[in-house]
Amino acid sequence: MLRTVTATRYVEPLRSGGSVPAVVEADDLGTYVVKFTGSAQGRKALVAEVVVGELARALGLRFPELVLVRFDPAVADDEPHQEVRDLHAASAGINLGMDYLPGARDFTPEVARTFPVDPLEAGRIVWFDALTANVDRTVHSSNLMVWPTLGTVPPRLWLIDHGAALVFHHRWDTADPTRAYDFRHHALGQYGPDVRAADAELAPRVTGELLRSVLAEVPDAWLAGDDRFAAPDDARAAYAGHLLARAGQSERWLPGDFPGREELAAEEAARSERTRRGRPAWLRHVPDLHGKPPAEQDWSAHLG
Ligand SMILES: Nc1ncnc2c1ncn2[C@@H]1O[C@H](COP(=O)(O)OP(=O)(O)OP(=O)(O)O)[C@@H](O)[C@H]1O
Ligand SMILES: [Mg+2]
Repeated sequence: MLRTVTATRYVEPLRSGGSVPAVVEADDLGTYVVKFTGSAQGRKALVAEVVVGELARALGLRFPELVLVRFDPAVADDEPHQEVRDLHAASAGINLGMDYLPGARDFTPEVARTFPVDPLEAGRIVWFDALTANVDRTVHSSNLMVWPTLGTVPPRLWLIDHGAALVFHHRWDTADPTRAYDFRHHALGQYGPDVRAADAELAPRVTGELLRSVLAEVPDAWLAGDDRFAAPDDARAAYAGHLLARAGQSERWLPGDFPGREELAAEEAARSERTRRGRPAWLRHVPDLHGKPPAEQDWSAHLG
């Protein structure tokens, strides 16, 4: 069972997150990153966070503890920005908290340049993202953190932010447990992920019993919003059934060979050229950054 804590101090908003999570302290003296029920991403993002996060933990992947956070917007009375205040006002009650990793660093392409990850660990994470249809673990947005960064314990990779996983739950009528996973820009592609070894190790551990215990952690109120299901338990059964079917047919979606440096560079160049040709002449000299930092254009940084 996820523990329930009460937020006692609002530390700061995390503006680097699209959903504007908050760092709070709670009555158990812990510090948590809170994802709000009132955010634009909606309750399904929180369902995905709980299901995928708890499944990750059960499979032995490093993932910070999740808690339910009772949040009274009055705790954040000193938040000056109206849009953040509105988010808090829309989120009174139970929200989702993740244990805050103090001093952790985002796993960016710059960090990746010197951070070692062994192929089996990379394979486990890629396999897991493929199982859970997580579209948000790319070189541009890794949702991986490196922690601890000080002290004598060596830094390791931690998974965070599974709000964009389980993409199938946005369109149950087209949900297909055998759908292939687009891993081409996965944050760990450069480490030679051994997805076959990960599959042999992890697929047999994704049992109906495990999935039912993971789904039991999701609050009813977060599952109640989907009119497709008469009751929260019907929704739980659909998630568990889909993931069990997917785990049982991994040969259908297992990522194959990861693209090489030249292939990715050619793909990127072709995409830039298409964008450039689609622009009026006066805009053609502007670099095609697609909202990303220029370093992202150089695939060699990701491929060693
Ligand atoms: N448990 C944590 N400990 C320390 N820092 C964290 C933790 N969780 C998130 N962060 C920091 O906050 C940032 C935003 O978090 P997260 O990606 O979960 O938010 P989000 O709103 O879902 O973001 P987006 O949708 O934009 O990816 C992370 O990139 C990281 O820097
Ligand atoms: Mg994120």
